Amino acid sequence: MKLKIGLNKDLDMLKFKNLGLEREKAIKNAFTDSITFSYKANEIAKEIHREKIKVIISKIKVETMDTKTFVLKAKEKDLPIFKAGQYIVIDVMYNNRLYKRCYSISSSPKQNTYEITVKRVRNGIVSNYLLNEVKEGMEFTIHGPFGQFTYNEIRDKNNILALVGGSGITPIMSLARAIDDKVEDCNLTILYGENREKDLIFKKELDELEKKNKKIKVVYVLSDEINSIYETGFISKELIESYEIGQYSYFICGPLHFYHHLNEIFKELDIPNKYIRHDIYKENELELRHVKHNLTVITEDAKITIPCFEDEPITKAMEEGKINAPRKCLVGVCGYCRSKLIDGKIKTENQSVRQADKKYNYIHPCVSYPLSDITIKLCK
Ligand code: FES
Repeated sequence: MKLKIGLNKDLDMLKFKNLGLEREKAIKNAFTDSITFSYKANEIAKEIHREKIKVIISKIKVETMDTKTFVLKAKEKDLPIFKAGQYIVIDVMYNNRLYKRCYSISSSPKQNTYEITVKRVRNGIVSNYLLNEVKEGMEFTIHGPFGQFTYNEIRDKNNILALVGGSGITPIMSLARAIDDKVEDCNLTILYGENREKDLIFKKELDELEKKNKKIKVVYVLSDEINSIYETGFISKELIESYEIGQYSYFICGPLHFYHHLNEIFKELDIPNKYIRHDIYKENELELRHVKHNLTVITEDAKITIPCFEDEPITKAMEEGKINAPRKCLVGVCGYCRSKLIDGKIKTENQSVRQADKKYNYIHPCVSYPLSDITIKLCK
């Protein structure tokens, strides 16, 4: 039976009906021996995307009172290439526990080193360790680079308006350096929000880049200081509107509350999502108590119960309990830690959980907090 679709095309219903059977037959007859050779393309890909990279801290630069840049040099082969805006994951062993943290690369892709710029997080185990105890010459393992927070000349407009909050400047700094090194070719205007002038990271270099490179422009917005040469307050609708809508792609980088604030503005300005890209980092903004619960983790071959606290993400409890839980971005974006909530109640700061995941109780432990004893099953 043929069904008429459109003007000239026919859909052969019989052929369509048999499609499943034909596929099944093809699968049954398919070659089942395991492949004993490796394709050259796979070998090259493995080389470029190495699982683990050993690096040495070759230099430490003090940026502000509570921020330092760590220059990472490859211990053996060259570091993989990256695009401005990408991040790496660093393994940090501290007190016999393995912590994994993501840091954006702040250096230019033209360099053969990676630079990560770390700001102190109050009570942050890893940031305090890196800032207080790490010395030049120490070795670490890193993974990556990862991430899509990159300029793409096909997808993005040639004018980028970067909206930056605090240490969110790091991937944008990489982009500014890449433009100056002619690795990327776009115009970049940075609206850089910080509390006070002395907290601005890379200020001297940003000012120099602006002076020597017409493609780079920086506007500082200070919330806790009035100074006539800077904007005062927060990055506002009026300020964003002063850059002609329709001419820009918007790159947002900063903490979650900063992202939500801008998201509201974008809705009001009716800016389509396709022009907005974001890279967010997490701060615990949920009102949670320091109450102890039990966390039971089911893995492929074990069931382990460890303590967890209501005001700490489940992933952190697993780190503390020496459970090697899957994790990458730690901000609820990559989906790598996706796990099934078998029992108990949680609170999450993740606003972008898929409907299907909500329905079948899948959570992202990196941004989920236990409100009772809970049981989760790791998917990886
Ligand atoms: S580690 Fe990326 S979503 Fe949890």
